Amino acid sequence: MTNVTNYNFAGKKALVRVDFNVPLNDKGQITDDTRIRGALPTLKKILGDGGSLIIMSHMGKPKGKVVPSLSLKQIVDAVSERLGVKVQFAPDCAKAADQAAALKPGEALLLENLRFYPEEEGKPVGIDKTDPKYNEAKAEMKKRQKEFAKTLASYADVYVNDAFGTAHRKHASTAVVADYFDKDNKMVGLLMEKELKAVDNVLTNIKRPFTAIMGGSKVSTKIGIIENLMEKVDNLILCGGMTYTFMKAMGGKIGNSICENDKLDLALDIMKKAKEKGVNLVLGVDSVCGDSFSNDAKTLVCASNEIPDGWEGLDIGPKTREIFANAIKGAKTILWNGPAGVFEFDTFDKGSRAIADAVVEATKNGAFSLVGGGDSVACVNKFGLADQVSYVSTGGGALLEAIEGKVLPGVAAIKGE
Ligand code: 3PG
Ligand code: MG
Repeated sequence: MTNVTNYNFAGKKALVRVDFNVPLNDKGQITDDTRIRGALPTLKKILGDGGSLIIMSHMGKPKGKVVPSLSLKQIVDAVSERLGVKVQFAPDCAKAADQAAALKPGEALLLENLRFYPEEEGKPVGIDKTDPKYNEAKAEMKKRQKEFAKTLASYADVYVNDAFGTAHRKHASTAVVADYFDKDNKMVGLLMEKELKAVDNVLTNIKRPFTAIMGGSKVSTKIGIIENLMEKVDNLILCGGMTYTFMKAMGGKIGNSICENDKLDLALDIMKKAKEKGVNLVLGVDSVCGDSFSNDAKTLVCASNEIPDGWEGLDIGPKTREIFANAIKGAKTILWNGPAGVFEFDTFDKGSRAIADAVVEATKNGAFSLVGGGDSVACVNKFGLADQVSYVSTGGGALLEAIEGKVLPGVAAIKGE
């Protein structure tokens, strides 16, 4: 199988899909560059061989329109600095043929946000799914998507997909474009290989006990992964906002805490299934509540099912920290997706910190720990612990889908599965 390591890029133009959908602050500065650093080994190998780079990515969800606050121009200097070469910029990703053709060996070009074109996602814009003309519009857009992918492909001799974070999307640049390269001239990148190996480690090479920690505000968006994990784990810690859907489902008082009122049955069902499967489902018992959603909120620690009106649970309390830490410390395989509370506010980051510390301790004792999902990664970075866990994934949705056992379209397009 062709791969980045054994391919000689000398004299070739390589079109590399990366996931540079990095968080920016209101000044357009990168607040977490994990995804850029993750792509560097592939990018540097290509330049080192004497190839030239055409780097492409999306940022955010501009939905087919030019949105200046989502321009990749904002990150071109940061990419240049990390890559060690001055990266050129193509302000229109579909009109970059001349710039791509002019690239010399060792030179690099970054294309503007692919999603400024609706063809990238391939979804028709400005027409509702209920419209009788929708199917026609969709077919038309799919045709245009192929043309768009063909244009991107025309810039290069070889295609590399290193965008693990976007590999669960079947888009022009992540999947369709692969059709325009023969099998010897398309491959997944080094980051993608590493990510898939880490997932494989968690799924097939499980050392027990296996503890998964899932956070997040909604049960509904995590249900697929929760059900799948229930087949595999010994301990399943559920935390974050979804805690309160469980508390309410069991008849608890949750004050102003976030809750999916139409998912109470689902929460009870998850508890029942865990029991049937002998999975130790661990929920919080106490919460740090705030009287508003802010770092300056007044705080109150109370039982998670006895939250007074006017207060909302924003972090796990001290008893829960201990219970969670105990379920984590003895584990030999750990998957962490989603913080325990609003860790962005220092007032409410103690729970997530307790989880991070326990994961680090277990890792020191020989556990394989995989941390993924934008928020959990930002969380371990905030605590300066990213290098003390086994693997930090650049994927959020993609990681979860891979762990659910789904085939990722970005990988399938290359490997022909
Ligand atoms: C992400 O951050 O989840 C990836 O970059 C994919 O973005 P998307 O969820 O908007 O497709
Ligand atoms: Mg996403």
